[in-house]
Amino acid sequence: MPKPRVYATHQLFEEARAVLDAACEVEYWTGEERPPREEVLRRVKDKEGLVCLLTEKVNDELLRAAPKLRIAANVAVGFDNIDLDACTKRGVVASNTPGVLDETTADFAWTLLMAVARRLGEGEQLARSGNWKGWNLDQLCGADIWGKTLGIVGFGRIGRAMARRALGFQMKVIYTDAVMAPADVTESLKAEYRDMNSLLAESDFVSLHTPLTPETRSLFDASKFYRMKPTAFLINTARGPVVDEAALVAALEAKKIAGAALDVYENEPFIHPGLKRPNVVLAPHLASASLATRTRMAVIAANNVVALFKGQMPPNMLNASVLKKS
Ligand code: GLV
Repeated sequence: MPKPRVYATHQLFEEARAVLDAACEVEYWTGEERPPREEVLRRVKDKEGLVCLLTEKVNDELLRAAPKLRIAANVAVGFDNIDLDACTKRGVVASNTPGVLDETTADFAWTLLMAVARRLGEGEQLARSGNWKGWNLDQLCGADIWGKTLGIVGFGRIGRAMARRALGFQMKVIYTDAVMAPADVTESLKAEYRDMNSLLAESDFVSLHTPLTPETRSLFDASKFYRMKPTAFLINTARGPVVDEAALVAALEAKKIAGAALDVYENEPFIHPGLKRPNVVLAPHLASASLATRTRMAVIAANNVVALFKGQMPPNMLNASVLKKS
C-alpha cells in the first residue's frame, strides 16, 4: 500500500519527522522563511495530510486546492487560522496541540510581566549603550509585582498556570471568564471571580489568556483601557486581535494605563509603530518557544496525522463530527 502523502509547511524537528516519515510520504518546506502561499496551494494538490503553522490560513481557498486532504494538523494550540466549518463541510479533520505548552506560555507571560514592571527593556538598552553612569537612587524605578493584584482574562489551562505562579509573589489573583472555574481550582489557586469591569478596576496587571473567537476579537478596546488603573499594565500572550491596537496606543498616549507587554499583534509580523515606546515590552510571538515545548508540539501534530491514517481518532481533533459522520 502506498503511504499517504503529506505536506509540512516547515521542516519541523527531527523527533516529529521520525513520527511522520515512518507512516507517510512527506514533503517538507525547508526554506528559512514561511513558504509563499502559492507554493502551499501547489503542494497540497495531491496531499492527504497537511502539517501547518499558525501562520497558514486553512480556509476555503486552501481546501479547494487540496481535494484529497483528510487532515490539517496545526502546530499550535490556537486555531484561529483554521476555518473549522469549512474543514468540517469538506470532511477534513483539523487538529491542534493543546496541553503541552501551558506552563511554557505562562512562564513567558510572567517574563513579560516582570520585564515591563521592572523596566528591563529600558535597563538593558542603558546597560548596552555605554552611557550608564552607575547606580543611582532614582534610576529606572519601576513598579512592584509582589503583593499586587493580577487580573486574568480567560481562566483556562494557561490562565490557571499564570495564576499558580502568582502565589509565589504573594499576589491577589482575580479572574474573569465566560464560565466559572470549579471551586477546587479557585481554592487551590486562591483565585476569585470578578466580572470584567471589576477586574479591570482592581488589577495592577491584566493578563490575557483567551482564544481568538468572534466574541473576543477587539475585546480590549478603548472602553476597557479607560476602566484600568493608570498604574496598571496589560500583558498579552493570547492573540493580537483580542486587543484593538490603535485603542491601546491611544490609551498609552493618554496615560490611561502605565504600560504593556506584548507577544502577539493584530497583523503579525507588523507591529503598530505607536507601540514602540519605552513603557511597552515587545516580543515576536515567542510564548511557547522553548525547544522542548516546540518539539513536543510538532510531535503531537505528527501523531494526530499518523493516528488518522491508521484509522484511529486523532487525539487532538477539533471537529470530531467529521469522523462520526463517516
Ligand atoms: C501559539 O501561539 C499557539 O497557539 O500555540
